[in-house]
Amino acid sequence: MDPLVSAALKARENARAKYSNFKVGAALEDASGRVHTGSNVENSSYGLTMCAERVALFKALSEGVASFRRIAIATGAEQPTPPCGACRQVLWEFCRDIEVILANRNGVTRTFRLRDLFPEPFDDANLT
Ligand code: THU
Repeated sequence: MDPLVSAALKARENARAKYSNFKVGAALEDASGRVHTGSNVENSSYGLTMCAERVALFKALSEGVASFRRIAIATGAEQPTPPCGACRQVLWEFCRDIEVILANRNGVTRTFRLRDLFPEPFDDANLT
């Protein structure tokens, strides 16, 4: 199994998902090969929930990492699960067209480019 997928599955074990019981793990590989992991973190005030992908990305950004190659996202579903719209927007903002590997509970994967999951993005180019 791709070590990035293993890292996402392992990160999933730390999910705090007592309300949805839908655990997600993410592993983001930076340009130097270092891996930054995240899991979803839910709250009794549901709207404060943070997705696994953004936890991984914000951890990396807050440590000064600025360039990324790939992200693996693992759920417990039978089918590999695509990232939510908010995560697509935030990943596009900071990672642009990275490789996105979706993994199910057994590590079966589907691989995309972010631009294919997130066509016609809104970004800084639209603010000029
Ligand atoms: N979730 C993620 O962690 N990533 C996504 O891209 C989709 C949704 C989480 C949020 C919430 O804790 C649970 O999955 C159910 O929506």
